[in-house]
Amino acid sequence: MAPSIATPEHVGLRAPIKTALKTNAGHNKENLIGYGETYKHGDELKGTVKQPPASFPNYLPVWDNETERYPPLQPFEHYDHGKDANPAFPDLFPKNGSYHLDELTPTIGSEVTGIQLSQLTKEAKDQLALFVAQRKVVAFRDQDFAHLPIDKALEFGGYFGRHHIHQASGAPKGYPEIHLVHRGADDTSGADFLAGHTNSITWHSDVTFEVQPPGTTFLYLLDGPTSGGDTLFADMAQAYKRLSPEFRKRLHGLKAVHSGVEQVNNSLNKGGIARRNPISTEHPIVRTHPVTGEKALFVNPQFTRNIVGYKKEESDFLLKFLYDHIALSQDIQARVRWRPGTVVVWDNRVACHSALFDWADGQRRHLARITPQAERPYETPFDG
Ligand code: SIN
Repeated sequence: MAPSIATPEHVGLRAPIKTALKTNAGHNKENLIGYGETYKHGDELKGTVKQPPASFPNYLPVWDNETERYPPLQPFEHYDHGKDANPAFPDLFPKNGSYHLDELTPTIGSEVTGIQLSQLTKEAKDQLALFVAQRKVVAFRDQDFAHLPIDKALEFGGYFGRHHIHQASGAPKGYPEIHLVHRGADDTSGADFLAGHTNSITWHSDVTFEVQPPGTTFLYLLDGPTSGGDTLFADMAQAYKRLSPEFRKRLHGLKAVHSGVEQVNNSLNKGGIARRNPISTEHPIVRTHPVTGEKALFVNPQFTRNIVGYKKEESDFLLKFLYDHIALSQDIQARVRWRPGTVVVWDNRVACHSALFDWADGQRRHLARITPQAERPYETPFDG
């Protein structure tokens, strides 16, 4: 039975959810496709006729970390270490270092081999924050990240901001700060979803309903299909720049409501959990990056609901234009193919993304995300 949650009417906390917090049951619905009711950890641990056991059983999702609902997230002062970075990147990309750096497209996406993230110095981490802000998304290959003890991986990610704890997703036992993306062996939910939809695209930036959404974000592969399951990224700063000055001027000053209510509803409807009461938050439609000063569009079809002060038809019309502009502009997008050992780092303030659920069912796709929160989005005046 679906819980009843009041329709959002204003910014801030919604009425408390009446449904009791559930344990040890649930779905990862971040990407609309979770996994079916028949999912069993046993298959993941033992494997099936088609699938070996999960490579990283310590990263299998559980929903029994919690015994009571978490309090609302509290505001905190975010300091972006990209501000301290040497823009020549001497520590991240040392002269005479044996790394290889490739641009996937002119404005978005780089691929790096020969650098081990877990070994970076403080200076190199500062430069990583800046480099990712500039390139929007960077794929680091052949990383040892998934093999680190989970608390070491969290220690690394915690340098970039306060860990976000997802309101509904499964997490490794004892580590709710890790958000898991997981479709297990013999999962048929991808095919089930595509039976009713023409594609699996769900453009979004992560958890934009939070007052302080994430900045530098890390997603690493644990197990993946032989092909497929890539992630698409779009450059939201380019998406802003491609608009005419007159149109951009019109967007400045506008705010949109981003809602986490539906994600929690979705989770509870499927027998999942709600760690916190969901919130809706107003954010500017154009935000400014605190380090690069770049302006970027900040709306997405998964979490943005309406433009403040606009009538429904006006709001729907403008948001649809912006969503189409982002989704259809393949010349501001990059596509990352996952390979074993890949860690993808993106700046959630200036990039949006979508997973692709295009591979044959029966193969596992299992990733872990570390999601440091950043500053509250702000905009600086239109400057032409
Ligand atoms: C995410 O939305 O953060 C995960 C993307 C993916 O599964 O590729």
